[in-house]
Amino acid sequence: MKTPKKFVIKGGRTLRGEVEISGAKNAVVAILPATLLSDEPCVIENVPEISDVEISLRILRELGAEVTYMGPHTYRIDTRGVLSYTVPYESARRMRASYYFMGALLGRFGHCRVSLPGGCPLGDRPIDQHMKAFKRLGAFTRLEQGMVDITTGEHGLQGTQIFFDCVTVGATMNAILAAVKAEGLTIIENAAKEPHIVDLASFLNSMGADIMGAGTDTIKIRGTKYLRGTSYAVIPDQIEAGTYMVAAAATGGNVLVKNVIPKHLESIISVMEKIGVKIEQFDDAVRVSVDGPLVKTSIKTRPHPGFPTDMQPQISALLCLAEGTSMIKEGVSEQRFQYVDELRRMGADIQVDGKVAVIEGTGHLTGAPVKACDLRAGAALMIAGLAASGITTIEDIYHIERGYADMEGKLRALGACIEKKTVPQDAVQHDHAQIARQDAV
Ligand code: EPZ
Repeated sequence: MKTPKKFVIKGGRTLRGEVEISGAKNAVVAILPATLLSDEPCVIENVPEISDVEISLRILRELGAEVTYMGPHTYRIDTRGVLSYTVPYESARRMRASYYFMGALLGRFGHCRVSLPGGCPLGDRPIDQHMKAFKRLGAFTRLEQGMVDITTGEHGLQGTQIFFDCVTVGATMNAILAAVKAEGLTIIENAAKEPHIVDLASFLNSMGADIMGAGTDTIKIRGTKYLRGTSYAVIPDQIEAGTYMVAAAATGGNVLVKNVIPKHLESIISVMEKIGVKIEQFDDAVRVSVDGPLVKTSIKTRPHPGFPTDMQPQISALLCLAEGTSMIKEGVSEQRFQYVDELRRMGADIQVDGKVAVIEGTGHLTGAPVKACDLRAGAALMIAGLAASGITTIEDIYHIERGYADMEGKLRALGACIEKKTVPQDAVQHDHAQIARQDAV
C-alpha cells in the first residue's frame, strides 16, 4: 500500500504561463487493451503517465504481453505471446476501465474472464449494454464468483446489428473491440460519439481494421482477420485541457493550454465564454484569460458533443466564483455531486436536488482540509483551492493521479503554490502553520 499523499495549496495565486496537455486517459485505457487484437507489435505514443495506464500495462504483462518502455510517453507492446484470457480480480478491481479487456480478449480468443467492475462514487454504473453487445455478436455471458465469463459458440463472433438502449461510451468501445475481428458486418446504432471513440477506431484502422462512422451515432465494422502492427499517438486529453482552462479562469490568470485539438473543446469553450472567460483559439492551443466579472450560467451535461459530464465538478467550482445563481443539471451520470459537501467546507453555497445543483456564487472561497472522492471531484477541489484565500489540503489524491499526469508540476510551473506531502494527520496543522509563516515573509 503506497503511503497516502495529499496536496497542500496556498490559494490566491494567479496562474500564468503555458501548460502542455498529455494523452487522453479515456482513449488510452481502450487503446492499450486493443493491442491484444494486433497480430504484430505496436508502438503507442503520447501515453499519459497516470495510474490508470500503469494498471493497464500491468494487466497486459500479467496476460503475457511484452511491454517495453521506449522513451517518454512511448511504449512498444507485443501481445503475440499472450495465451491467457483471464484478468485477475486484484488488477481489474483497481480500474473500472478494465472492462475493455472483455471486448479485446473476446475479439482475440473468443473467450474472456474479467472481474465485474467494482463500486463507483458516481453511482450506479451497470454494464448491461456491454453484455447486450457481446450477446448480439453471438457470445454467451455468465457471472461466476464476481467474474464475468464470456464465451462464443463454434462459429465465433458473428457480425450483427447492435442498438444501444442508452448512449454509452464504454459499451460502444467494447462493441468495437469485440466486432473488429468478427465474421462479417456489424452495425452499431445509438453509438456514443466522444473523441476517444474516434481515437480507438483510428488506432484499429491504422492496423488494417475496417471501421466507418466513429464519431457519429452509427458505426459500421467489417470484420478483419489480420491486424498488422502500427505506431500510433493518443489524442490529447480534452478533459485535462478543460480542467486547466477552468483553473486559469478561476484564478483570473492568463494561460496558454498547448497540445490540444480545439474542435474537441467546442462545448467547453462555449460554456466558459458564457461565463465571461476570454478564449483565443490556435491550431493546437487555446489561450484562456479573464478581463471582467464571471457571469452566472445554467448548464446541462450531455453526451458528446454536449458539455461533458467529466467537466461538471470543475465548472461548478468556477461558478462558485461568479456572482449570482447558477444551475447545473447532470444529464449523464447517475450521481455526480458528492464533491459538493467538500466545496461547502470551502464556503460554497450549493443546494443539490437529485441531478440538479443550484449554486449561489459568492465570488469567494476559503481554504480548508478536504478529500477527493473521485477523479474529477479532486480536480474541482484543486481548482477551488487555487482560487481560495488561505490554505487547502486535499487528501485521497490517488483519485486525481488516476487521470492527471504530474498535476502538481504543471500547476507549479504556472505559478501555483502547491506541494505534495504525506498524510499523517498531525502534519496538517504543521503545514498550515508552515505556509502561514511563508505567507508572512
Ligand atoms: C466513460 O465511462 C468514462 N470513462 C467516464 O469518465 C465518463 O464519465 C463516461 O464515459 C461518460 O462520458 C472512461 O471512458 C474510462 P457510459 P462509462 O457507459 O463508459 C449508463 C472520468 O472522469 N450505462 O457512457 O462507464 C450509465 O449508468 C470517467 O474520466 C448503462 O445504463 O460511461 C451512465 O448513466 C468517469 N448501461 C450512462 O450510461 C451500460 O451498460 C453513461 O455511461 C453502460 C452505461
